[in-house]
Amino acid sequence: MSETSPETSLDFEAVQNRAEVALARCEDPEQLESWYYATLGRKGEVQLMSRQLGQLSAEERPIFGKRVNALKQALQVAYEQRREEIERQALERRLSAGAIDVTLPGRRPRTGTLHPSTLVLRAMCRIFGDMGFQIYRSPDVVTDEYNFEWLNMPPEHPARDMQDTFYTRDENVVLRTHTSAGQILAMREYHPEPIRVVLPGMCYRNEQITARSEIQFHQIEGLAVGEGITFADLKGTLTEFARRFFGAERQTRFRASYFPFTEPSAEMDVSCFQCDAKGCRLCKYSGWLEILGCGMVHPVVLRNGGYDPERFSGFAFGTGPERIAMLKYGLDDIRAFWGNDLRFLTQF
Ligand code: PHE
Repeated sequence: MSETSPETSLDFEAVQNRAEVALARCEDPEQLESWYYATLGRKGEVQLMSRQLGQLSAEERPIFGKRVNALKQALQVAYEQRREEIERQALERRLSAGAIDVTLPGRRPRTGTLHPSTLVLRAMCRIFGDMGFQIYRSPDVVTDEYNFEWLNMPPEHPARDMQDTFYTRDENVVLRTHTSAGQILAMREYHPEPIRVVLPGMCYRNEQITARSEIQFHQIEGLAVGEGITFADLKGTLTEFARRFFGAERQTRFRASYFPFTEPSAEMDVSCFQCDAKGCRLCKYSGWLEILGCGMVHPVVLRNGGYDPERFSGFAFGTGPERIAMLKYGLDDIRAFWGNDLRFLTQF
């Protein structure tokens, strides 16, 4: 470069050509920066060329100066163009890498599913709803009177032992041990009008948790009160329910039982749907599955609800959806319902 002379335009062209070839080889912003530093930077080739100005004669200087400036400008323009090109290519690469391939199968969004207890409760409420029963919501926390006393279980009544109770700090306030606790509330709200309601809800019992018993479970209670209601109405309603819920082929039978709040009392069995009543492990080779407790509302309970037992009669029943879901789906551990294991919960 020391021999550079303003007369030899070749040198300018040679520098420009070399710089342009090197520029075209730049592939990314880092290489571009190095090129700029080496070419147009403060210690770059072109800058070094312009230093030679001092060695030139007065006539040569303006010509040389013009040419150096033209070279600088040309390379600056080339540099900007190349930078835009590199940016555009990078953008294109990013776009094509993230492009949507419409031929790929879609990703299914994960949606929640209803809890098996909810499914069974809703199916039951729908069937009773079709038969004219309304849903009656009643509280989980009640006084002793609703859960026991007004249901014909005075203090010290031995039937209270059947249901180990969770008490609050106020000894008179309990977590309901059965949905029957809502019967009195419904009666006091409706009397002296006739009633046809189902009461779904969570119940609580202070028991050892095992595969067969939990401290919390759902029940769905049914209550019908009116004039002239008989045990035949009870049998008809529950048999129809069993057929709709378990299938038209199912048989039902009623066994005498005891509950303090119904008289007479019964338990309903449905013919085993696993073995069609031939006998299997599920029905313990009896051919029958016990599914609910029921009876005619006790006169004392009717009176506590505001109805005159001389004029009114009624029936009530109570059943547990978890137990029924276990029978229906062949589950052997009730703890799965509150275990929060999605592998279990999403199966239904
Ligand atoms: N409440 C009883 C129970 O929890 C079931 C029942 C309800 C029985 C209504 C008769 C009438 O076992």
